[in-house]
Amino acid sequence: EKITISVIKADVGGWPGHSRVHPALIERAKEVLAEAQKEGTIIDFYVTYVGDDLQLIMTHKKGVDSPDVHGLAWEAFKKATEVAKALGLYGAGQDLLKDAFSGNVRGLGPSVAEMEITLRKSEPIVTFHLDKTEPGAFNLPIFRMFADPFTTAGLVIDPKMHMGFRFEIWDILEHKRVIMSSPEEMYDILALIGAKSRYVIKRVFPKEGHPIPKDEPVAVVSTEKLYEVAGEYVGKDDPVAIVRAQSGLPALGEVLEPFAFPHLVSGWMRGSHNGPLMPVPLKYATPTRFDGPPRAVALGWQISPEGKLVGPVDLFDDPAFDYARQKALEITEYMRRHGPFEPHRLPLEEMEYTTLPGVLEKLKDRFEPV
Ligand code: F6R
Ligand code: MG
Ligand code: MG
Repeated sequence: EKITISVIKADVGGWPGHSRVHPALIERAKEVLAEAQKEGTIIDFYVTYVGDDLQLIMTHKKGVDSPDVHGLAWEAFKKATEVAKALGLYGAGQDLLKDAFSGNVRGLGPSVAEMEITLRKSEPIVTFHLDKTEPGAFNLPIFRMFADPFTTAGLVIDPKMHMGFRFEIWDILEHKRVIMSSPEEMYDILALIGAKSRYVIKRVFPKEGHPIPKDEPVAVVSTEKLYEVAGEYVGKDDPVAIVRAQSGLPALGEVLEPFAFPHLVSGWMRGSHNGPLMPVPLKYATPTRFDGPPRAVALGWQISPEGKLVGPVDLFDDPAFDYARQKALEITEYMRRHGPFEPHRLPLEEMEYTTLPGVLEKLKDRFEPV
């Protein structure tokens, strides 16, 4: 029997500004999910925050895109929004872009990563939660986990994973997808996913011969783009991901290893700047400097045979990531010195979805032919 793990998040109000979630919102969401657990809609849940995003982690038997589970998440966000409004929190209800729920939260504002899996004898998973950045921020780390032998030693020395993995890549502008095989098509994969604002890794699958069935994802990333729903800039699409680990998959330490390098991602202040992705424990998932720098939290879980969430373990709460944090601060300082100049500020085509066009519009009439 299969279990589904759903991670659904939304920004329904910040405290203060866009820096973090007020504990009262977390409490309210917990009440809603506890009720649903009692009624049997979900098996287990955990509610937390990363930056200004309220994060719901749930297990259940209803499969992906379940109207019951998505409806429940919508309900939790609605109830938390009421609390945010009562407290006068900033941007209350920000990501709930539509008034009515219609069976699925996709396209309504929240971001979703979910996978339906046959539990292995022991099922270690990591949920990743990013703030002040976008889905393409996962391209580099997911690629390195499942395709880079300098990150994942298992690709070289474990016969169970030596054949590599398949990547499902989405063109999020044209709404198309392609499945590519690594290592055979590695250069083609990189040709696409290096352009991270357009081509985004959606899922990773095992290949024929792997102990995990070939149609079951081993990693999944949220790919929602808020501006497509709202038609204008309403904040970045702070993404989430779920990654399974061990026994023929990247070991826990191979899953985390890519985050030892704080790579540049787009987001940060006004969703308009490049900056380093800083791996942090939950207690530091509170972006403050220039509304950043962008943060990554990794929560470790074992799924019990009944589908209970045994965790979380706050995986970046480890001095082994101090160097990455220090490096991220150096890069922060370096990038900040550019002020409003590219490449700290995003290139013009990516600024199209921010508030900049409003300024450029006013200058249009000032130009004369040369
Ligand atoms: C970035 C983010 C913040 C806001 C910034 C301005 O994703 O959420 O950096 O863009 O604080 O916010 P407003 O326009 O709401 O004052
Ligand atoms: Mg916000
Ligand atoms: Mg956010």
